Amino acid sequence: MMEVMTDVAVPTYVRNKEFKAWLNEVVELCKPNDVRFCDGSQEEYDELCELMVRTGTFKRLNPAKRPNSFLAWSDPSDVARVEDRTFICSRRKQDAGPTNNWVDPREMKQTLTRLYDGSMRGRTLYVVPFSMGPLGSPISQIGIELTDSPYVVVNMKIMTRMGRKVWDILGEDGEFVKCLHSLGAPLAEGQKDVPWPCNPKEKYIVHFPEERLIWSYGSGYGGNALLGKKCFALRIASVMARDEGWLAEHMLIMGVESPDGEKTYVAAAFPSACGKTNFAMLIPPKELSQWKVTTIGDDIAWIKPDEKGELRAINPEAGFFGVAPGTSYATNPNMMEAIKSNTIFTNVALTPDGDVWWEGMDGEPPAECLDWQGQKWTPQIAKETGRTAAHPNARFTVPATQCPVIDKDWENPKGVPISAFIFGGRRANHVPLVYQAFNWNFGVYLAATIGSEMTAAAFGKIGQVRRDPFAMLPFCGYHMGDYFNHWLQIGRLLPNPPRIFGVNWFRKDESGKFIWPGYGENMRVLKWIIDRVRGKTSAIESPLGWMPRYEDIDLRGLNLTKDQFNKLMEVDREAWKQEILSHEELFEKLYDRLPKEFILMRELILSSLWRSPEKWELIHERYVVEAK
Ligand code: OXD
Ligand code: MN
Repeated sequence: MMEVMTDVAVPTYVRNKEFKAWLNEVVELCKPNDVRFCDGSQEEYDELCELMVRTGTFKRLNPAKRPNSFLAWSDPSDVARVEDRTFICSRRKQDAGPTNNWVDPREMKQTLTRLYDGSMRGRTLYVVPFSMGPLGSPISQIGIELTDSPYVVVNMKIMTRMGRKVWDILGEDGEFVKCLHSLGAPLAEGQKDVPWPCNPKEKYIVHFPEERLIWSYGSGYGGNALLGKKCFALRIASVMARDEGWLAEHMLIMGVESPDGEKTYVAAAFPSACGKTNFAMLIPPKELSQWKVTTIGDDIAWIKPDEKGELRAINPEAGFFGVAPGTSYATNPNMMEAIKSNTIFTNVALTPDGDVWWEGMDGEPPAECLDWQGQKWTPQIAKETGRTAAHPNARFTVPATQCPVIDKDWENPKGVPISAFIFGGRRANHVPLVYQAFNWNFGVYLAATIGSEMTAAAFGKIGQVRRDPFAMLPFCGYHMGDYFNHWLQIGRLLPNPPRIFGVNWFRKDESGKFIWPGYGENMRVLKWIIDRVRGKTSAIESPLGWMPRYEDIDLRGLNLTKDQFNKLMEVDREAWKQEILSHEELFEKLYDRLPKEFILMRELILSSLWRSPEKWELIHERYVVEAK
């Protein structure tokens, strides 16, 4: 008979009453073999990594190439976030809104209770106490994840501040977010485990926002299982932020230091697959080498007004969980340096010398390697079959401290002051390289209507625009219309709200080539943004907002003609009329809670398009004439 635990022995430093009751309930339901309280120490991390080497979950990489680093290959059914299995189970359906999946919380609890019953049999339940944000910061929050996956524990150690000290902050009555995670792969007595246990048939990523509760079942991968990240820091935190007057956003945070030492912090949101992590740690081109970019975060920002009404931001995470394919010395040298050691790789290829490889890495592909499913892979096989060596969503997990340009204030408990928000998408047509919204309200409208063209057929029709308001579509834990209202309300409360900008690095010319070089060269756009914030550069009015002229952007050393610049900045009147009209599709869906301001702003933009010249050059000429 396998032993079933009932009353769990809890260490004396764990005093929180609500936690103890919850743990007993979970143990009784999930029936693990054992319970282990994680302390977040290096010894514990090493021991669990070693355990996973023995069970086959991890391969230790060649220490001469990649010290203290490991590779995991997942089950092919468990490779990414599962948006169609993600639910916001608020008490009332209308509070989840039409952009989220909803099931009545009572019904969902019944379904999941059935699945959780005995789901940890034969496994250890790990208790993972963690802080999102620096311990003790007024912006930080505490969570506790109960998980039966050691892979989750070691990733949480990198991605959060995890460990003993959290219990002191929590005390007897402190509040925390309850995060329950089970792989849904119980082991019968004597049953041999597989390297990547999960439930290939059923997956549920469920949020109960009123209870600040997360239940995840069936997946061991990324955002489905590391519950501090998308589930807590975005979906649950967005609800907390709405209730408490702050912002939980899908944004990077970066510091930009000008040649005279003036530091400006900006936060930026881009939908997935727009190069957010690369932008967060860009290296300026040599003509702007006196400018310095430092990183606070690459994915999530928690932002709160301070007592003076200034917005202060922290990165609630402690590591980067980045997409490997496409990461190289050409696209992100700082990240390549960061992942040289102490890194967990998931679903990348293994080279014969015990190192990792993925598509888009610098240099030639290896003559041969093992792909993310352990199969032989060669460039020839790739040509013949189209198989990639790394899964397109392969990842690395690395401590933020290993980033060579981590900002000195990245752990400042007060956060850093935000002077600008940047919103972007991947748009081949119509959307200019950069423009500044006329004011906060127009900025909220701009952010609410950003979108990206689909890049892979799997996600829909290639080229079709998927609106992704604030890059939060899969991550907002409540009704999107209420979310827009919350942003407008925050603006009303701030004496001098940050400036809001739109960017688009991805505009193409007639032959389908990108006009803007991107990557480090984006510093040139960032410089204009900073100069605008500091009142140091001029701009001209367009129907969409304020825009730089050719001479306002530092283009030294870049072979970009005025014609190309005009093409990048062009606001095509007819195309924009269509674009603005197409916002209706999103608005209609959210109509019952859409801010009234949006309808008016849409009309205002439309009417300025009516009176605007057809082409950008003419907008420019008009300015010149008027300025004389
Ligand atoms: C992510 C995402 O995984 O945004 O960070 O998809
Ligand atoms: Mn993200």
